[in-house]
Amino acid sequence: MKDTIRQLIQQALTRLASEGVLPEGLSPTIQVENTKDKSHGDFASNIAMMLAKPAGMKPRDLAEKLIAALPQDDQVAKVEIAGPGFLNFFQNSDALAQRLEEALADDHLGVRKAGPAQRTVIDLSAPNLAKEMHVGHLRSTIIGDAVARVLEFLGDTVIRQNHVGDWGTQFGMLLAYMQEQPVGSDAELSDLEGFYRAAKKRFDESSEFADRARELVVKLQAGDADCLRLWTRFNDISLSHCQAVYDRLGVKLTMADVKGESAYNDDLANVVADLKAKGLLTESDGALCVFMDEFKNAEGNPLPLIVQKAGGGYLYATTDLAATRYRSNVLKADRVLYFVDQRQALHFQMVFAAARLAGFVPASMEMEHMGFGTMNGADGRPFKTRDGGTVKLIDLLNEAEQRAYDLVKAKNPELDDAELRQIASAVGIGAVKYADLSKHRTSDYSFNFELMLSFEGNTAPYLLYAYTRVASLFRKRGLDFTEVEGHISLAAEQEQALAAKLAQFADTLNNVAAKGVPHLLCSYLYDLAGLFSSFYENCPILAAEDEATQQSRLRLAALTGRTLKQGLELLGLQTLERM
Ligand code: ARG
Repeated sequence: MKDTIRQLIQQALTRLASEGVLPEGLSPTIQVENTKDKSHGDFASNIAMMLAKPAGMKPRDLAEKLIAALPQDDQVAKVEIAGPGFLNFFQNSDALAQRLEEALADDHLGVRKAGPAQRTVIDLSAPNLAKEMHVGHLRSTIIGDAVARVLEFLGDTVIRQNHVGDWGTQFGMLLAYMQEQPVGSDAELSDLEGFYRAAKKRFDESSEFADRARELVVKLQAGDADCLRLWTRFNDISLSHCQAVYDRLGVKLTMADVKGESAYNDDLANVVADLKAKGLLTESDGALCVFMDEFKNAEGNPLPLIVQKAGGGYLYATTDLAATRYRSNVLKADRVLYFVDQRQALHFQMVFAAARLAGFVPASMEMEHMGFGTMNGADGRPFKTRDGGTVKLIDLLNEAEQRAYDLVKAKNPELDDAELRQIASAVGIGAVKYADLSKHRTSDYSFNFELMLSFEGNTAPYLLYAYTRVASLFRKRGLDFTEVEGHISLAAEQEQALAAKLAQFADTLNNVAAKGVPHLLCSYLYDLAGLFSSFYENCPILAAEDEATQQSRLRLAALTGRTLKQGLELLGLQTLERM
């Protein structure tokens, strides 16, 4: 609907320009918002206020001319001027009902991508394999997963890339320790944290061990067969830990999506040689660097992007440069989204700029760093265990599920244990994910079990429960969502409000996809659940005054149920039919 309104306004602007009312050549971004108060219509635009100055007119006068120049459209019932010069658009309820009918008849709920379908690479999760996944890896994993699902639903070809850290200096230390324990069984290794700590202790205590560790990194990176064998064994175990966490979280990542830093090893020398051939490298204290005019430090001195250390070693940036061209040349990406901590913003700005300068990627390939803030503890400080250690992600998920189990059991003591466990998993894991996804991606947030497990407010339990209410309404009648006959007609205020929200699903998903911000989908579903509640309270369904009204209301409920279910699924939450 917003797109339609934007197009109507655009046509009016073109017409006014050709009539000389507006200067030629204006190309403003036309903003159209949902109104808060429905007595002011359904959508509003501030275009007349934006263009009043260049047009040399008062905003309200321009607004009047715009209304006169707007083409007729079935979906718009009327347009009014409000306040200082807003244009308020009132949706035509018959046209709105018609749109909902189309959504009901479509397994994609009438959702289409606003622009052309693209091949999109999603760089997500990417833990370092030397240690176990900790809470710091949660955000990249689940935000990336949600955006990937939305893009897929909109019709993009999505390629997930798990750029795991499997090649750093820490591996020398781990290999040296593995060599000392030739009998080290998989079981011993499966406690990765303990293994890492023991290796680190040796490293700090013995300089002979530390030297050997350094030698081993060099040997490994040079392709030594023994080193590679140990390294593969270690990584296989570490990756199987990651996979267990992914499965538990219900994110769509598999071993096939792993393309770690090591995968680019053979190309790193070429990256440096190509940068050199393009004249982009400068030597600084023996290291090879790319200097770009737009990157300066606080004192105004040029900042280097280092691609090779004085000793010959390559860096994180070198690997990322190699990855940009792999994603372009081999994966044929149109767009690459990097879900990585906000603190790496400068790294990505520099890598993207250098990749473009070097011609590693075509100008048409979009690269966007989808940075995110930190997950803090309830005290607002970085999330830690009681003794100050990092919290393992798996421990956090276990606790969430246990707490959900206790809560659900207290509410429904009659449920059998198997069902309780199943509900606890959906609610507990869903709560952790939803609490994270519902915050704006770039802000920090405080992790709080009590709040995220509450059945009130913008939480997973509230939404999962809202969905079960719709599901049970249908179960009681022995119907499913696709079986309701009849037509939607929108009479009551609550029906209109619910319908208008349902019609915003496509716009919402397109915004999530464009900006990589799943919180928009969370607020949308929360609003939808709220509007459904007031509809349900005010517009009797089973006791409706006549058959046609009952069917219309059931159809609205069916579309609400399907939209909630689809929306939660796109966020990566498991829905329940009852709880
Ligand atoms: N392993 C890195 C870290 O833990 C994240 C990698 C993100 N992706 C990338 N292409 N650099 O910080």
